[in-house]
Amino acid sequence: MSELLRRMLGEQIRIEAVLAGGLWPTFADLSQLENAILNLSVNARDAMPDGGHLTIETANTELDDRYARMHQEVEAGQYVMISITDTGIGMSPEVLERAFDPFYTTKGPGKGTGLGLSQVYGYVKQSRGHIKIYSEIDRGTTVKIYLPRHVGSGDVRFSAPSMTPIPQGSVEDTILVVEDDESVREMTAESLRELGYSVLQAAGGPEALEVLQNERVDLIFTDIVMPHMNGRQLADAVMEKWPAIRILYTTGYTRNAIVHNGVLDHGVSLLAKPFSLEQLAHKVREVLNSKPPAEQA
Ligand SMILES: Nc1ncnc2c1ncn2[C@@H]1O[C@H](COP(=O)(O)OP(=O)(O)OP(=O)(O)O)[C@@H](O)[C@H]1O
Ligand SMILES: [Mg+2]
Repeated sequence: MSELLRRMLGEQIRIEAVLAGGLWPTFADLSQLENAILNLSVNARDAMPDGGHLTIETANTELDDRYARMHQEVEAGQYVMISITDTGIGMSPEVLERAFDPFYTTKGPGKGTGLGLSQVYGYVKQSRGHIKIYSEIDRGTTVKIYLPRHVGSGDVRFSAPSMTPIPQGSVEDTILVVEDDESVREMTAESLRELGYSVLQAAGGPEALEVLQNERVDLIFTDIVMPHMNGRQLADAVMEKWPAIRILYTTGYTRNAIVHNGVLDHGVSLLAKPFSLEQLAHKVREVLNSKPPAEQA
């Protein structure tokens, strides 16, 4: 990933890799792991506006019983550790406490959506791993990811993705597409109709809430960044009044699109633009099959 990172971070940031020899194998989704490293590197870049050092380190690590007892959700055992360290502005305890929350950002409008760390968290949890942030104001930040050591024998590489058929929709399921860009909205609505769903449209949050007064909707597919009311605010309003409705977010921020295309935890589902018909079909089906956000912890 060195080339990509160098281009993304610019010349002001020196990148150093300290990679352990004899690193254990781990069984993980490679593209999502790269995604996590990109997310963390972009955060590091944003924390070093005047330049600095980014260090990526790998090591074999044992998390012992004592550590596991101190960190509730950690299972003691052997892990492959990947850490990203920057020499940036660091985080206050208040920021640190909320950093993994979806949509939590200290960056101005148009600069961050606050989905980066929550996505990394979701991925690590899904991989039965562990994540830990160490940070000090004005000194810098280290994020450590622990992925379980793979001890099974045989080839640990993923087999080629199977040709799973595109899941079709049903007219029984109604999807409300909320998007301020008319051509994007039309195209999305068209794709969903093609898949077999019933589709409604709204150009923004307030209009969407009006539609919901009169129509039964199963899923809202909403853009995150919109004028007047953003996707998150819309979702909050919807969850209060119609808790059974599923929410699927989408975002087209080019700055975030490459780094935000993974699994989010905390009941937040996201499909980054641009997406293919197939990706749309799978994601919509997955979210319709999931529990509504109000019922998730
Ligand atoms: N390396 C870091 N140094 C200092 N603060 C950080 C670092 N990484 C994350 N943060 C803080 O945590 C917050 C949440 O990070 P997260 O990646 O989830 O969202 P974001 O970077 O603000 O937005 P996005 O990832 O969507 O561009 C950031 O706004 C920032 O305040
Ligand atoms: Mg980020």
